[in-house]
Amino acid sequence: MLRLHVLDIVFLVILLPENVKLLKNGLALTPPMGWMSWGYYMCAVNCDNYPDKCLNENLILSVADTFYHDGYQEAGFEYIIIDDCWSEKERDENGKLVPDKKRFPNGMKYIADYIHTRGLKFGMYTNIAEITCMKYPGSQYFFDIDAQTFADWGVDYLKVDGCFVKEDYLNTGYIDLGQELKKTAKDMVYSCSWPYYIQFIHKKMPDYQKIAKHCNMWRNYHDVQLHWPAVKAIINHYKNEYDRISPYHGPGQWNDPDMIIFGTGALNENQSRVHYTVYLMLSAPILLSCDMNKITTFEKKLLQNLDLIAIGQDPLGIMAKPYQLEQLVILWVKPHLPMKGDRFHSFSFAIVNLDTEQHLISIYPVVYGVNSTDGYSVMDVFANTFRKNVTLKDYIQVVVPAEDVILYTLFPL
Ligand SMILES: *[C@@H]1O[C@H](CO)[C@@H](O)[C@H](O)[C@H]1NC(C)=O
Ligand SMILES: *[C@@H]1O[C@H](CO)[C@@H](O)[C@H](O)[C@H]1NC(C)=O
Ligand SMILES: *[C@@H]1O[C@H](CO)[C@@H](O)[C@H](O)[C@H]1NC(C)=O
Repeated sequence: MLRLHVLDIVFLVILLPENVKLLKNGLALTPPMGWMSWGYYMCAVNCDNYPDKCLNENLILSVADTFYHDGYQEAGFEYIIIDDCWSEKERDENGKLVPDKKRFPNGMKYIADYIHTRGLKFGMYTNIAEITCMKYPGSQYFFDIDAQTFADWGVDYLKVDGCFVKEDYLNTGYIDLGQELKKTAKDMVYSCSWPYYIQFIHKKMPDYQKIAKHCNMWRNYHDVQLHWPAVKAIINHYKNEYDRISPYHGPGQWNDPDMIIFGTGALNENQSRVHYTVYLMLSAPILLSCDMNKITTFEKKLLQNLDLIAIGQDPLGIMAKPYQLEQLVILWVKPHLPMKGDRFHSFSFAIVNLDTEQHLISIYPVVYGVNSTDGYSVMDVFANTFRKNVTLKDYIQVVVPAEDVILYTLFPL
């Protein structure tokens, strides 16, 4: 007993100074799933002229109702996040942020309480600079006050953008704000846009080791736009950056390819399958952004497909590895649970065809790390059927339709 205590003290002395600087908040152990306003609503403040596209209290509460009533919550959708353009243009006399009085007449605590009553979680937005990207008050010089305000409101998730500041400041500001969030002792998933601004605005290489220590998730690449080429560009970016970013990806620390664009009419069914499947294979956060009433029956079924979600929410959180099979055909391979014993993972294989023509593809699973000598049972996830058993000598051959994906999960026998 005494020995243990002494050891504990030694560990405390050695580890504490380093640990207090890290985020280590125990949150987002699987990638957050939910809804965020930006992709579709953007800065929708002109509510008199566009009542159907208005960022206000009604909208946020209605998303909570939809999650609660329409099966999204059971499928894992949890966070409801207000992005930019939620506040008044001026802070109050105590330096606090003030929600837009017309669009959020009952304030943010009211919204948080409503969302929490539904068993869901509430997210908000700020920017690391003096103003937000859309020129509302930002958090620079107010980290402590803002962190406490968000905590007091019951915010569970904070997205922090990185417009309008220098590279040096990005590299310290996100850490400092994270410390202030931690001081409030309110659990908040910390979503940082930090590496995106380093790489694409300041043209430098992000220090992912540092970022992963201080943020629960972070944006790597451009905002998704509401069309298929944007989705393809995101997929290609994650393929190209796999070696650089995958080591920092896992429980509590996620690379974030930005929102899912369902419910906007931007994608056909095959493209929708590709978009969602690749995100789940990456173990990416899944954030919808749309008028929830415009989600099609096809999209809803896809979003709530539990075999798919099990892949994306797998507790191991391993980012699928891409293999270029042909110029426009990429195989993504992801090991996940359940395991047979402690050595043999299950695997999902997503064969993604970005070409406008179908391709006949053959793969030998053994080439991609599957190694159980007892073989595997192969499930076709979209067909929702057992396909066949394979040994380590077998190959799988399949026609992948244009702009579509074939998804197999292999369970060790
Ligand atoms: C099978 O591969 C996994 C890694 O995916 C490895 O940990 C395990 O040791 C391998 N098992 C055998 C028997 O080679
Ligand atoms: C697949 O393997 C399982 C386990 O060995 C066996 O029960 C099943 O019959 C096999 N299915 C086929 C179609 O061979
Ligand atoms: C979509 O995929 C289906 C099969 O999954 C295929 O028959 C169809 O041609 C594809 N549609 C388009 C528009 O590419």
